[in-house]
Amino acid sequence: MMRDLILYLALLAGTVFVACNNAGNTDTADTPIMTRVTPTPVPASNEPPVPKSGAGNFENLVASFESKDRVIWQKPGMVISLLGDLTGKTVADIGAGTGYFAFRMVPKAARVIGVDIDPRFITFMDSIKVRLPEQYRSRFESRLAKANDPMLKPEEVDAVIIVNTYGYIENRVAYLQTLREGMKTDAELLIIDFKKNNLPVGPEDDYKVGQSQVEGELESGGFDLLKIDNESLDYQYLILAKKR
Ligand SMILES: C[S@@+](CC[C@H](N)C(=O)[O-])C[C@H]1O[C@@H](n2cnc3c(N)ncnc32)[C@H](O)[C@@H]1O
Repeated sequence: MMRDLILYLALLAGTVFVACNNAGNTDTADTPIMTRVTPTPVPASNEPPVPKSGAGNFENLVASFESKDRVIWQKPGMVISLLGDLTGKTVADIGAGTGYFAFRMVPKAARVIGVDIDPRFITFMDSIKVRLPEQYRSRFESRLAKANDPMLKPEEVDAVIIVNTYGYIENRVAYLQTLREGMKTDAELLIIDFKKNNLPVGPEDDYKVGQSQVEGELESGGFDLLKIDNESLDYQYLILAKKR
């Protein structure tokens, strides 16, 4: 089992290397199989259910996040382009997981911080980092965060991306207020998450946060909405906001 995981990591590292070197290419040039991962249900309460992302076998989570067909519906190149020109900028990927987005931004940005609360993903990202070419390696940093704090330094980043993670965060308005402090003036925040409708990928509908709820929470959390797009991606909505 461990040998299989090591082999998988080696293959994935090769794929990320290729992704970095294909930075200017289209989305079809990107990465690795999508299996549906159903989060463990949480006990009923008055609060909306929060999916537990750490549930499930780590290898299955990695295989899911890095699935080969993901590039078709995730369109990472198009998503990253929404952040504009990243030259000279510092970007945080919150809930980075395997670094699916973080590593794709490394060739474009000055610095990329892969933030996660799960030490297994921190170790995973670090195992990818050491295989990157030197000029890219020095641009990437993994950061172990807390569930209620992304652990950014004051005004550390120019942009933040949160993909398929927003629904895992509890007390989201308070979280957004804390996140704001780690963002520079006019810094942008891009949130991408699954639409409701029993999709072939992503969590069950009960675990999703609706687009209009995210919009309201962003406004309460100190952000102005810049762009709302629920058409460019088949399974997900995109919300771009700016620190108020
Ligand atoms: C479904 S994965 C998405 C991973 C990655 N963004 C992607 O799209 O492939 C959710 C990730 O968010 C992390 N996570 C959950 N709650 C978090 C929190 N409060 N702060 C930071 N990361 C969190 C989990 O450990 C997991 O790696």
